[in-house]
Amino acid sequence: MTDTWVIVGASRGIGLEFVRQLLQNGHHVIAGVRNVSKADRLLELKSHCTTPERCIIEECDITNEESIQKFANRVGDAAKEGLKVKNIVLNAGILQYPNRATELSFPEFALHLHTNTIGPIICAQKLVNLDPESPPSKIVFISSDSGSTTLFRDDEDGFGAYGASKAALNQMLRHMAAELTRRGGKWSDTCVLAMHPGEVQTDMANIDLGWEVKGSIQPDESVTGMLKVIEEKDETGSFWCWDGRLQYD
Ligand SMILES: NC(=O)c1ccc[n+]([C@@H]2O[C@H](COP(=O)([O-])OP(=O)(O)OC[C@H]3O[C@@H](n4cnc5c(N)ncnc54)[C@H](OP(=O)(O)O)[C@@H]3O)[C@@H](O)[C@H]2O)c1
Repeated sequence: MTDTWVIVGASRGIGLEFVRQLLQNGHHVIAGVRNVSKADRLLELKSHCTTPERCIIEECDITNEESIQKFANRVGDAAKEGLKVKNIVLNAGILQYPNRATELSFPEFALHLHTNTIGPIICAQKLVNLDPESPPSKIVFISSDSGSTTLFRDDEDGFGAYGASKAALNQMLRHMAAELTRRGGKWSDTCVLAMHPGEVQTDMANIDLGWEVKGSIQPDESVTGMLKVIEEKDETGSFWCWDGRLQYD
């Protein structure tokens, strides 16, 4: 079955791999990127697709409210033209390493919160509110095990603001899940999920840490696993690892 997916933060890494696999599986994708003219790898992927019209590329800077609103409007227009959105993946994120609580500046902390917490939540809010008669089936936030509070990793030096931004994301998405259930109507069928993609070899992971990262995987393995989890899991507000294990908040 062909569905329409929205992937936000689709220019590189895990987001780009989501687009690649979804197109390969025959789906339609609306890909949101910070800067279309700099999304070379996504533009190339689209150009090699046998049916490039299945990939719509739109600007969405997750730190800019006006950009998010324009993106939501374009997704709304696409829905009116027949591309009803089934699933949304909020993938955009940053890690400016190191980001220690004892060292980082106000703007550095704010940038992590704007990009990893506030932008994804506001973007999801605008997309879920587009059409009360036809909200998305699933809203998936790409979080991180660094945001787990019950499994706090005190040895993860340099991940203060990043971990805090993902912990705040996890808490806010659970509120979103509960609010949609309380709202009733078709919104109560929307399932909100958080996902840890694993330790994935992307630009974000290409940093010199003071410890060995165990079990790192390639983006294709991570995304294949996450697509399976997204299809299978339907408990709204739950947090999953890419390989189907429950992730602790
Ligand atoms: N890699 C890992 O091991 C790992 C582990 C746990 C969680 N994660 C999470 O997985 C997600 C994807 O990470 P990745 O590893 O694929 O990182 P990446 O290779 O650095 O890619 C990050 C993506 O986010 C986009 N982005 C950043 N700021 C944005 C903004 N203001 N507006 C729109 N898009 C923006 C980037 O776009 P530009 O090209 O414009 O910069 C890029 O497409 C992130 O949320 C990250 O926190 C990754």
